[in-house]
Amino acid sequence: MDIAVTETILVTGGAGYIGSHACVALLIAGFEVVVLDNFSNSHPLALERVQKITGRTLVFQQGDLRDHTMLDQLFHAHRISAVMHFAVLKAVGESCSNPLAYYDNNVVGTIHLLQVMQAHAVQRLIFSSSATVYRPSAVMPLDENAALGATNPYGQTKQMIEQMLMDCCASAPWQVALLRYFNPVGAHESGLIGEDPAGIPNNLLPYVAQVAAGVREVLPVFGNDYNTPDGTGVRDFIHVQDLVAGHLAALRLLLTKDKQQAFCRPYNLGTGNGYSVLEMVQAFERISGKSVRYRIMPRRDGDVAACWANAQRAQQELSWVAEKNLDAMLADSWRWQSNNPQGYRS
Ligand code: NAD
Ligand code: UD1
Repeated sequence: MDIAVTETILVTGGAGYIGSHACVALLIAGFEVVVLDNFSNSHPLALERVQKITGRTLVFQQGDLRDHTMLDQLFHAHRISAVMHFAVLKAVGESCSNPLAYYDNNVVGTIHLLQVMQAHAVQRLIFSSSATVYRPSAVMPLDENAALGATNPYGQTKQMIEQMLMDCCASAPWQVALLRYFNPVGAHESGLIGEDPAGIPNNLLPYVAQVAAGVREVLPVFGNDYNTPDGTGVRDFIHVQDLVAGHLAALRLLLTKDKQQAFCRPYNLGTGNGYSVLEMVQAFERISGKSVRYRIMPRRDGDVAACWANAQRAQQELSWVAEKNLDAMLADSWRWQSNNPQGYRS
């Protein structure tokens, strides 16, 4: 069934890495977009670039999810059909040193969003969850029935929000997709938007890209004694463009659902393939033509040896599969990094 493309979608965290790519996909698909962001981890230029890529305009509200009055006014001002909710804090290490900031921003912020949505009878939500909600396991791949058990405050906030959403659906007809991302990488092929971590990158790919670009000297490789083919960690890297295509697929599903019937379902978004840290380093050197110096360091606390997805549910129920291969992920990361060596501040 075709969706009327006059629907307006609220994108919380729309100036961020994944949110900005989602805005591009929504605008290209013909949706109207309202972005709410407080720029705590992003830059206004991202939204200008989104509009440049798409040739369309979006509505932007600068503000914080916990500002209940502002949120209420936003829902009064726009006829919102559904929400894509990206706006959280996401640094695992920081969540361990400052857990209350994470519970406040992520959990309390989401409670305000859900309260205002409910008050305005907007009960369709796509939530950015994460593979981090799964209990660490030696059995791969992970499907959506794998045991949950986040191991750090950031992951706990994701698990709590999933639980809140399931409880909402048990009490009222919400339609919710819980999208559990594996490891998003890459950038829009224009090189205009991409991941722009503040300070030292926590995640592998931005670090590798910054070493290739000469912004950082050497990549720390956290452990080479794991039970994996080359001893380094293995992850399921997924192109951000594939990831946002999964959001569009989930949105289309939710928009076709009967508004009187509750629906809440988790979907893994991954490729089903794993690559090791050293495979990533070598592939990045090949794609960029630059060398990436690395140094083997002790294991990082909380890391698992390997993690990859069984994404068959998304294939069957959302008609979605990840299409872009590793070379495309790395080529697009490199284009973004080399065009914007200091991110949006370049
Ligand atoms: P990001 O930090 O780039 O984007 C989040 C955006 O939300 C930022 O623009 C930030 O300014 C905004 N924000 C944060 N708190 C806010 C608040 N209280 N009010 C208003 N705006 C606020 O992160 P991202 O990588 O784009 O991640 C998006 C979502 O995907 C997050 O929910 C994250 O947990 C989830 N996720 C990301 C990854 C990943 O590797 N990037 C993996 C799994 C899940
Ligand atoms: C991390 C988070 C996870 C979050 C995900 C996506 C931790 C423990 N987990 O997952 O909660 O959902 O990011 O944001 O932080 N690596 C290096 N050197 C580096 C960086 C990473 O060797 O400088 C290695 C790691 O040890 C790991 C692999 O690269 O084996 C991937 O790491 P990363 O990109 O941080 O993702 P995850 O650990 O999978």
